[in-house]
Amino acid sequence: MTTQQRTATLTIDGKSVDFPVYSGSIGPDVIDIRSLYGKTGTFTYDPGFQSTAACKSSITYIDGDKGELLYRGYPIEQLAVHCDFLEVCYLLKNGELPNQAQYDDWTNRVKRHTMVHEQLVRFYQGFRRDAHPMAILVGVVGALSAFYHDSLDINNPEHRLVAAIRLIAKMPTIVAMAYKYNIGQPFMYPRNDLSYSANFMHMMFATPAEKYEPNPVLVRALDRILILHADHEQNASTSTVRLSGSSGANPFACIAAGIACLWGPAHGGANEACLKMLEEIGDVSRVGQYIKRAKDKNDSFKLMGFGHRVYKNYDPRAKLMRETCHEVLNELGLHDDPLFKLAIELEKIALEDDYFVEKKLYPNVDFYSGIVQRALGIPTQLFTGIFALARTIGWIAQWHEMIGDPENKIGRPRQLYVGAQQRDVQPMANR
Ligand code: SDX
Repeated sequence: MTTQQRTATLTIDGKSVDFPVYSGSIGPDVIDIRSLYGKTGTFTYDPGFQSTAACKSSITYIDGDKGELLYRGYPIEQLAVHCDFLEVCYLLKNGELPNQAQYDDWTNRVKRHTMVHEQLVRFYQGFRRDAHPMAILVGVVGALSAFYHDSLDINNPEHRLVAAIRLIAKMPTIVAMAYKYNIGQPFMYPRNDLSYSANFMHMMFATPAEKYEPNPVLVRALDRILILHADHEQNASTSTVRLSGSSGANPFACIAAGIACLWGPAHGGANEACLKMLEEIGDVSRVGQYIKRAKDKNDSFKLMGFGHRVYKNYDPRAKLMRETCHEVLNELGLHDDPLFKLAIELEKIALEDDYFVEKKLYPNVDFYSGIVQRALGIPTQLFTGIFALARTIGWIAQWHEMIGDPENKIGRPRQLYVGAQQRDVQPMANR
């Protein structure tokens, strides 16, 4: 719900123009500048969208200064303790936590779609065995639109729902198949008698040759990791999904675009980059030189897992991820894990350093997630794939909200042109 409370006046070349200012339910107000170009002939300029609200949304709220994260109004700290991932999926998509009957219906509907079309297996065989899993995910998820012609009419609510359920249900299968393909083991079919996260662990680590029962402590840890990564307001990959969806592209193609964007090391690829960085640092005695590099303007090195566009305080997900790390490492008897101890030391040193304090650079969700995923047996290259698995519900919920928004228009930003003035083509001999 937005209410207009006051106006903002912009004066340019002596001419003043008023714009409405809207308030949401919590968080910063917005200046509605949609009429700016028509009234003044000028654009706003905001590369990276640091001061731009691209949409209205009621799904996720972040207070970067306080380090708060709410999914549909519920604090992430409470959801991570009291709910499971499918419950949070229901919440993000529908706006309310499910009662028992709604939860049972939801989980049953998801379980009926955990298998992929048997033809899809052939897509994997087109990749090299050492293909990065994110390359496989972009290709295979995009290819889903070639299999589900029965649910591509984005204006049909039932099509939107079944596409959402298919994506939530199939992402674990697709991600686990990418892992099995990488290591040359046979694909494991889903087991619908298991919970969502236990089934994923089964498809990842079971083999036809032996009985495998997922460790419940590790399953709970994975489920919490999925909850922490489920949605995060208008981040780069979510904005990619919204922009793709604004043209009317089908949901499978939009999610594939989101996966491609998430892959970048500045975004979802940071967990993989962070673990590689910790392995490269190797020992606490070398932390100082890496902190120095991170502060050096002439060195492109950044401390991976630190900093955030919105959080100028501790990312609440990082705190929960660190607790989960402790639980998993203790369960596995790895509490002396050298990388975890190095991460704790690195965090301590960085948070006492003036540069990081002044720039408000705190650990983000990616700082500890790599360590806990490695302890769960997930290969480094697959960390971002797990992030994509979790974020699929966030992308779907945001895509769904955009499709239902009467103000939704195709996204088409403008530019500040700094190129050549108009000129005539000269014959090749005269160039
Ligand atoms: C995710 O948006 C989301 O919500 C994303 C996410 C989600 O759930 O969807 O939260 C997931 O992507 C988390 C972020 C993961 N990325 C990393 O950990 C990579 C390392 N972090 C940086 O690349 C950076 O902090 C970003 C990309 C996360 C944020 O970049 P911004 O907001 O554009 O800020 P910036 O790069 O302009 O940095 C501000 C200053 C700069 O110095 P000055 O030019 O002002 O002198 O801080 C410096 C930066 O050089 N800085 C760092 C740093 N991060 C920022 N210096 C050293 N190490 C770092 N990690």
